[in-house]
Amino acid sequence: MRRMLATCLFATLFGTLPAFGAEGDAVPRARMAADRLSATLRERVMIVMKEKGPAEAVKVCFAEAQKLTAELARTEHLSIRRTSLKIRNPANSPDPFERSALERLAAMKEQGSLPGEMIVPARVGGKQVLRYVKPILVQPGCLVCHGAEDSIPPEVKTHLQACYPGDRATGFAAGDLRGIVSVVVEE
Ligand code: HEC
Repeated sequence: MRRMLATCLFATLFGTLPAFGAEGDAVPRARMAADRLSATLRERVMIVMKEKGPAEAVKVCFAEAQKLTAELARTEHLSIRRTSLKIRNPANSPDPFERSALERLAAMKEQGSLPGEMIVPARVGGKQVLRYVKPILVQPGCLVCHGAEDSIPPEVKTHLQACYPGDRATGFAAGDLRGIVSVVVEE
């Protein structure tokens, strides 16, 4: 019900009609890919943090986050990325649809009604697609690299500044909306 409500809100927002039940397996495919991406990146970063410390984990993120995301897109035959209103890597900048989704979700979070996902039928490049959006919340383990400036260890800061000179992805608290996983599946 919450999902349907969110879909309706989005349909109103973007002037599209929701096509309930007409998505085939696009929704479960998008959902699975989004969950897998979050789990893969989280696991990878947590393992390196534990074994080598957070500074080394930043380097791994820098080297691997984009690659792991692209690999998942290739094997699952869909488009997938992470994006945010406060980005670290400019390659993760939101497109107009994602920006509207992020702004809308931020407002819903503010009102205490953040949905678990949003599903919007759309047309991209003349093709019918399904756009799937899943909010990403900040967990305590994220704060070492995304928390308040003065709480980030100096060696982490050094690496962040070197790899991401225009970094805007700090100053978050646990429970904040960090961004979204955004998936596009051809129907
Ligand atoms: C070891 C440091 C580190 C930790 C811990 C960490 N991140 Fe990140 N995060 C990064 C780096 C580095 C990037 C840039 C990755 C890239 O180049 O695509 C990033 C990028 C992101 C992005 C993509 C948008 C952007 O800003 O470029 C999201 C979303 C994100 N992180 C969420 C999280 C969440 C949620 C957690 C906790 C579960 C987390 N991160 C934990 C370092 C970290």
